[in-house]
Amino acid sequence: MKVSIAGAGFYGSTLALRVAEAGYADDVVLTDIVEGKPQGLALDLMQSRPLASFETRVTGTNGYDETAGSDVCVITAGVPRKPGMSRMDLLETNARIVSDVTRRLVAASPDAVLIVVSNPLDEMTALAAAVSELPKSRVMGQAGLLDSSRFRHFVAERLGVPAREVKAITLGSHGETMVPVPSLATVGGRPLAEALDDASIAEIVQRTRDGGAEIVALLKTGSAYFAPAAAAETMVRAVAQDTNDVHPVSAWVDGAYGIEGVYVGVPARLGREGVQEVVELDLTSDELAALRTAAEAVRGKQDEVLRL
Ligand code: LAC
Repeated sequence: MKVSIAGAGFYGSTLALRVAEAGYADDVVLTDIVEGKPQGLALDLMQSRPLASFETRVTGTNGYDETAGSDVCVITAGVPRKPGMSRMDLLETNARIVSDVTRRLVAASPDAVLIVVSNPLDEMTALAAAVSELPKSRVMGQAGLLDSSRFRHFVAERLGVPAREVKAITLGSHGETMVPVPSLATVGGRPLAEALDDASIAEIVQRTRDGGAEIVALLKTGSAYFAPAAAAETMVRAVAQDTNDVHPVSAWVDGAYGIEGVYVGVPARLGREGVQEVVELDLTSDELAALRTAAEAVRGKQDEVLRL
């Protein structure tokens, strides 16, 4: 099992660490344009093996030859937000970077599953799918798992329960039209609405929607990477281990939920071939309407990015 990660910033390097320590990959290749950086990070990671107990071989490179024959490629390349910026402000700069990186990765690994995490997320995923010319099922974006994890954390913290007891999904876009789904959220198996009042749920939904910006404002430079890398690793694992688990991801939706031909956050069953199916859950009419609104919002932007 070979996993390549394009972009050796905080996101890419934290993801390399998580995948290496998880132990299912034989090889992790970290590639970046900055000379010495991926090599140095790879060497540092390798030197942690005796203590962190993993045998994954981590390689750093400035090229793509070393990525050849990857099973999974993750695109983290691009610039992050600065305080006050929206993810959409990154569109043109990151479109150039993501197109270039996608072409190089796919040339070396034509059979890989591509996972995109660069922002704006849904638009960059659509772009990577178009540029790669891969089947749409083999290209997906990471956002819903991160947004759901944030939502779950906030609920767990509020109620003082273990985080893993809180189940929730977040759909729609990774941006203004994010759709947290409180109707399907549970705490210890019971509906969230039995544990929290509407006002508290609404507050947590809003904090989730602003979850990335809250961290950007605190960091002043760069954006979140611990939770994002944990979310991306969950997707890499689902593909690498062919788990068939259902996770919220940015997937190509063509028919489900009455949505046609767009990349947007939906629950999807993931396995060795990427997205095996988009899973249709019972949403309330408000949630379904919000998901369709998100799909229309990202459709406009996805068309724009494909014309760049
Ligand atoms: C965030 C960025 C990574 O939500 O999109 O933190």
